[in-house]
Amino acid sequence: MACVLACMLLLCALVHRSSSCASTQRCSDERTQKLDPEVNMNISEIIRRWGYPAEEHEVVTEDGYILSVNRIPSGLKRTAGPKPAVLLQHGLLAAGSNWVTNPPSSSLGFVLADAGYDVWIGNSRGNTWSRRHRTLTPDQEDFWKFSYDEMALKDLPAVINHVLNVTAQDQIFYIGHSQGTTIAFMAFSALPELASKVKLFFGLAPVATVAFTNSPMTKLSVLPDALIWDLFGRRDFLPQSDYIKWMAEHICGKRLLSELCGNIFFVLCGFDEKNLNMTRTPVYTTHCPAGTSVQNMVHWAQVQDRLLLQI
Ligand SMILES: *[C@@H]1O[C@H](CO)[C@@H](O)[C@H](O)[C@H]1NC(C)=O
Ligand SMILES: *[C@@H]1O[C@H](CO)[C@@H](O)[C@H](O)[C@H]1NC(C)=O
Ligand SMILES: *[C@@H]1O[C@H](CO)[C@@H](O)[C@H](O)[C@H]1NC(C)=O
Repeated sequence: MACVLACMLLLCALVHRSSSCASTQRCSDERTQKLDPEVNMNISEIIRRWGYPAEEHEVVTEDGYILSVNRIPSGLKRTAGPKPAVLLQHGLLAAGSNWVTNPPSSSLGFVLADAGYDVWIGNSRGNTWSRRHRTLTPDQEDFWKFSYDEMALKDLPAVINHVLNVTAQDQIFYIGHSQGTTIAFMAFSALPELASKVKLFFGLAPVATVAFTNSPMTKLSVLPDALIWDLFGRRDFLPQSDYIKWMAEHICGKRLLSELCGNIFFVLCGFDEKNLNMTRTPVYTTHCPAGTSVQNMVHWAQVQDRLLLQI
């Protein structure tokens, strides 16, 4: 955490310095790269931007949450024959945009659509796109009383049943990332009937325990629960906000600083320079973090030292 703070301070200092330069137009042009339009797009708009068809579906869970589910029903090269459905499920603090924020050749959502799959993209309750409920609103604390347990036992069955219903298929493929694999491990082991509807489950960065992670994200766990509640309140945690958007546009959008933005990703998520497109950090940061409940963060913190997660 200290390191993250140091990085933020460094960034602030740099922004401050470059603002003295911004007084001359030419100088600021050189330093600001053209902001990618995807910074201000929603998931369907990003999908359509590259020429792919996009659909938006609403799925209501048994406890009333209204989830936004995106679909890329076909690829650019229209393939004949039946299209097997595949559901992509994002990780902690992330969103369905994860699967489409790179150019089509390096975004799994587009790659699968072009390979002949009917691509469905889930958004867990509480993220940017799934902040609605039949009776509650996000400014009520009751809305935020959930953690990955409910994403596993309520969100996943609702979304999978919706996909099967719309596509009239018996089974789907499931690809989860990080928390998207955790909720699948939980749901498919607790609900055998649901598991029988999944042909194959692919786990990317699968999480069945966090006992051995050393990323600062999980180090929230060094704080006692009560302090986390005090610090962050009882509603949402790191939602997509104007503040983050400002940072993406004014810090990550500067040519010199976009690498620093990338370095914040490395500090938070692990160093992987080869696999991060530095010029796209403004797009990544405006779409992610996408928020979850503070309760979900507390739940993750509580299981820090367990060797296996349990429902
Ligand atoms: C995304 O943008 C499209 C087109 O502007 C709009 O029709 C759609 O309602 C938006 N979806 C969400 C979830 O905001
Ligand atoms: C399946 O879809 C039909 C209409 O397309 C709808 O009436 C029905 O409630 C759906 N069933 C489920 C389980 O979602
Ligand atoms: C990195 O992002 C830039 C800007 O969006 C894009 O032009 C380039 O093709 C991307 N590089 C890779 C390897 O995807």
